[in-house]
Amino acid sequence: MSSDARATAVDADLPAAAAEIFVADIAADMAPVSQPARQAPVVLRLVNVGKCYHMYDKPQDRLKQAFMRWRGKKYYRDFWALRDVNLEVRRGEAIGIVGRNGSGKSTLLQIIAGTLAATTGSVEIAGRVAALLELGSGFNPEFTGRENVYLNAAVLGFSKAEVDAKFAAIVEFADIDEFIDQPVKTYSSGMMVRLAFAVQVQVEPDVLIVDEALAVGDALFQKRCYQRLDELRSKGVTLLFVSHDQESVRTLCDRAILLDHGKPVANGASGDVLLAYRKLLHEEEKRYFAGAIKARTGDSLGTSKPNEKATSNTTAVRLRSVRDASFGDLDAEVVRVTVQDANGAPISYVTSGDAMRICVRVAVRKQLTRVNVALRIRNKQGVKICSWGTFSQDLAALARGEDDIFWRRVFEPGDEFEVTFVFDCTLGTDLYEVQAAVVEELDLSYMSQRIVHWRDEAAFFQVAVQRPDELTVREHPSRNFFGGVCDLRMHATVRADVDMRAEDAR
Ligand SMILES: Nc1ncnc2c1ncn2[C@@H]1O[C@H](COP(=O)(O)OP(=O)(O)O)[C@@H](O)[C@H]1O
Ligand SMILES: [Mg+2]
Repeated sequence: MSSDARATAVDADLPAAAAEIFVADIAADMAPVSQPARQAPVVLRLVNVGKCYHMYDKPQDRLKQAFMRWRGKKYYRDFWALRDVNLEVRRGEAIGIVGRNGSGKSTLLQIIAGTLAATTGSVEIAGRVAALLELGSGFNPEFTGRENVYLNAAVLGFSKAEVDAKFAAIVEFADIDEFIDQPVKTYSSGMMVRLAFAVQVQVEPDVLIVDEALAVGDALFQKRCYQRLDELRSKGVTLLFVSHDQESVRTLCDRAILLDHGKPVANGASGDVLLAYRKLLHEEEKRYFAGAIKARTGDSLGTSKPNEKATSNTTAVRLRSVRDASFGDLDAEVVRVTVQDANGAPISYVTSGDAMRICVRVAVRKQLTRVNVALRIRNKQGVKICSWGTFSQDLAALARGEDDIFWRRVFEPGDEFEVTFVFDCTLGTDLYEVQAAVVEELDLSYMSQRIVHWRDEAAFFQVAVQRPDELTVREHPSRNFFGGVCDLRMHATVRADVDMRAEDAR
């Protein structure tokens, strides 16, 4: 494929393989629920539920509103944190609620839990609701764990005798026995949520609401919580669940709702809704990074024109480069980082398996030697995938007995040079951030360094793994279909004549 053709492919948005994972229809209809759930009685019904806040631009507007209401003037804006929520949940169903921060998930759960009044619509609930809304919600910090358990359970409608009977089980589940008579304010956030969860699940609610609370517990506690949630579900408890962990929503919930700016935009089988959510995130991310790339290079992700030079905006980049996500002594400066295909044409999109290059341009301000120009590649989750630099190469060369290495080069003020990093992209489908740095390695130990200039978010690129077809395999023999963070370039060998009995006998 020529570089022009590839740039056109970038224009045409993501290629088929990457698009495949985002097939869910955002406006998905209600998916059919499983048979037993369909027959089960409705325990929760929301009709046109909405929550509107009055937003005042200035504090004095709030006062004006209070005193001059009779004039009929409005000093606030309406802000709908939640709007048009219609939902019917049957006994034993588990509903996940997903959406970005601020999309209205907690608002919805608080309205269902009864701790927040809706502005519009109606909420009907049959049975007892227990809620794990936020950290230690309902706990009084001055009281001991024991006192809080009794208070909490009383709020849920339990008698002292009932709590007495369950107390031991609650403390055991929370796993905090030696702290139960200490004030809750001395608890760690993990302990607090353990106790809160233990109370809420021991009281056997009909509807259990969990809002991101479990994330603060440790891994072992989380595992026990999920086991307990499973148990409760098999007993017919209805679950409303908010979590940032998409996998737990997928495994725990049959259905999910996606909220966007307070509105339900997808409602259906949790797998489909999570796809819709990822699609939404992906589109926002593309917009965000397109802006970030534009700000830095004048190029933008997904819209680079074949004949538009990435260098066109170099001056602007230089002016900006010292600010942003960068630091260092600035004896030299990373002025431009470009992601390129094997022919040196700027790209923002790479097919896994293809050769690629990252070119770092450095402008020298003060005399400089012992230089290491390094790259770091991070994925969207911030995981460092690889960090490598000219110094790594120099050390290997020295070990081979070569002496003419980059580290010994001397640069003068006004010099500019470019380092091109060439590699095969064996990365999995994701969006990657390039950090670039000029470092002075004071000796050959790799132990003492001075950061000359370090730039976060120096460039971005998107990688997609494509399913190879006959044609592309001939053109690009290195392309391989795989899942995960990177291609380990595996091979499989098969032995056909294995005699199991002979092997066992050995
Ligand atoms: N008391 C409040 N006054 C004004 N706006 C609020 C208030 N509480 C929440 N909001 C706004 O409502 C929106 C939804 O918030 P929330 O339900 O907490 O979102 P989520 O849980 O999905 O992150 C947000 O934009 C938030 O800033
Ligand atoms: Mg929330």
